[in-house]
Amino acid sequence: RHHGAQRRLRRTPALRAMVTETTLTPANLIWPIFVTEIAGGEGEIPSMPGVERLTLDGAKRAAETAMRLGIPAICIFPHSDPDLKTESCERAWDPENIGNRAIRAIKQVAPELAVMTDIALDPYNANGHDGLVRDGVILNDETVEALGRMALVQAEAGADILGPSDMMDGRIGALRGRLEESGHKDVAILSYAAKFASGFYGPFRDAVGASGRLVGDKKTYQVNPANREEAMRCVARDLSEGADMVMVKPGMPYLDICRMVKDQFAAPTFAYQVSGEYAMIEGAIRNGWLAREVVVESLLAFRRAGCDGILTYYAPQVAERLA
Ligand code: PBG
Repeated sequence: RHHGAQRRLRRTPALRAMVTETTLTPANLIWPIFVTEIAGGEGEIPSMPGVERLTLDGAKRAAETAMRLGIPAICIFPHSDPDLKTESCERAWDPENIGNRAIRAIKQVAPELAVMTDIALDPYNANGHDGLVRDGVILNDETVEALGRMALVQAEAGADILGPSDMMDGRIGALRGRLEESGHKDVAILSYAAKFASGFYGPFRDAVGASGRLVGDKKTYQVNPANREEAMRCVARDLSEGADMVMVKPGMPYLDICRMVKDQFAAPTFAYQVSGEYAMIEGAIRNGWLAREVVVESLLAFRRAGCDGILTYYAPQVAERLA
């Protein structure tokens, strides 16, 4: 073959291994789990086949699985009792809410596993929004104040990483301040910095029981999917306010944003392969339309686009496959 031939180095597995540019290991994965406080609330989520809502015991078992497989972090999402959701969302900062109980339960069995949380009011909000609502308007500063309380209680419960997914202005600085002044200096913030107003969150809202609740949409606080520069400004702001790590969400439809964020800021960058992406891939696999290999391919794409890690519902399955 002549100069410029590329096939010479593709000929055997050994040669291909030598020139592999990007790697995917269990250390690159964060595993999001749903924990229910509703009796009988556990079990498979219809729009996310293969993903289950867990009881507290199930969450402990998941933590042990993560440790065994070398997955460094688990991220807790609460499935909370709909009858206890209110407009003022006070359960969000109740030390006994299911999210906080899950943090403590996991820390009991797997103290070395990094526990990440979600900071937003939606699991406890009667109207399904991430912020407090008055006369149909999402209140910014009042929400940030509430999120601060939520953060402290999660830090108290033992969270290692807080994940503010609410998209209010000024929340990162406010949370950082609250953590510093309350003696939780070591708790890290992984900011959902470039979070788009996406239709790909649909199955997640089923999973946490928020679908029927949501009044209107989240377009007044999440980023317009058409906007790349605005996403970059969000990331710049969150880093300047003290975010330790930043996230792009959803993932696969926003790989251009991942690459830009990594190139411009050189900060720890994560992508969230969200529920709708999972549903698309898993639905096609279960229909026999795609082979299961596409799962690893889909995650490798994030690494190629510059992400240090990926939040994915496929975490345990892929870690098992990579082992
Ligand atoms: C809400 C939140 C959402 C997700 C994580 N946190 C949904 C939303 O913004 O409506 C989505 C995750 C997924 O789709 O997998 N605070």
